Amino acid sequence: MTKILDGNALAKQIRGEVAESVSEIVEGGGRPPGLAALLIGENPASEVYVRSKARDCEKVGILSRTLRRPDDCPQDELLALIDDLNSDPDIDGILVQLPLPASLDEKLTLARVSPEKDVDGFHPESVGHLWLDEAGFVPATPSGIMEMLRRSGIPLEGQQAVIVGRSTIVGKPMGALLLRENCTVTFCHSRTRDLPAVCRSADLLIGAIGRPAFFGPEHVKEGAVVVDVGINRITEAAEVERLFPGDEARRERFESKGSVLVGDVDFTRVAPLTSAITPVPGGVGPLTRAMLLVNTLRAARLRQGIAVTAS
Ligand code: GUN
Repeated sequence: MTKILDGNALAKQIRGEVAESVSEIVEGGGRPPGLAALLIGENPASEVYVRSKARDCEKVGILSRTLRRPDDCPQDELLALIDDLNSDPDIDGILVQLPLPASLDEKLTLARVSPEKDVDGFHPESVGHLWLDEAGFVPATPSGIMEMLRRSGIPLEGQQAVIVGRSTIVGKPMGALLLRENCTVTFCHSRTRDLPAVCRSADLLIGAIGRPAFFGPEHVKEGAVVVDVGINRITEAAEVERLFPGDEARRERFESKGSVLVGDVDFTRVAPLTSAITPVPGGVGPLTRAMLLVNTLRAARLRQGIAVTAS
């Protein structure tokens, strides 16, 4: 039997826990956590992400502020804005929505965020803590996946984990976290030889490459756990038909909405092979958003001298 890992239900549970902790802080005379999101330019997907993050904050009692700047925002102005937020006593977490416009230096920008407010876990100091197995902020997508695996009772010790995609945001930190849980970790990427064979060695397969329905049955061992990190929006009817020939339900969804969201995994063909799998939408995405709230709460507690648990 395949278990569908329900990200919406788990995220709701986590939001409930965050809301309870925020109430405790406020009832104890503390300050509610504050998150600032910086949105530079007019990327429609980023607009949606930032709006949903603000809504999530509101649900759990975290104060959120969105600061917008145009595409042509000078680098100096962006750095000065981050400096202001770094010294703002009401702001515990700073999130620079990626991607930045091409004219801006991403590394320089992310490194300007104070490590104690780095709720995205993208600052080099946070990355170092992660790989040194020290407490620190961990990027929300991989920590959300770990939380999902833990809460779903999926064993990790000694398991063969194969991660496809080596991004700084997902693939690499995912590997660090799985190593910490004593998985044997393999990183794959566009130059990996015989990718299907490597993927078939996985007890746990993480797909994070941003290619719609890329992973098929040829990539999956019977009984494996499959985590789909991809969120690909398809807006062409022909593309839906090419990827999912004869899938009437999907075609109808496309026709009623004008687009469909598709993961990196061909869910319909792969799910029957697996012991557990995340759907898209409703899998990893909601957990990512929930973990940003957890990180912001953690930052607020640390800044107010309230105890936190490790990592
Ligand atoms: N763009 C895509 N994913 C992320 C994320 O997790 N954080 C930020 N800041 N930008 C992103």
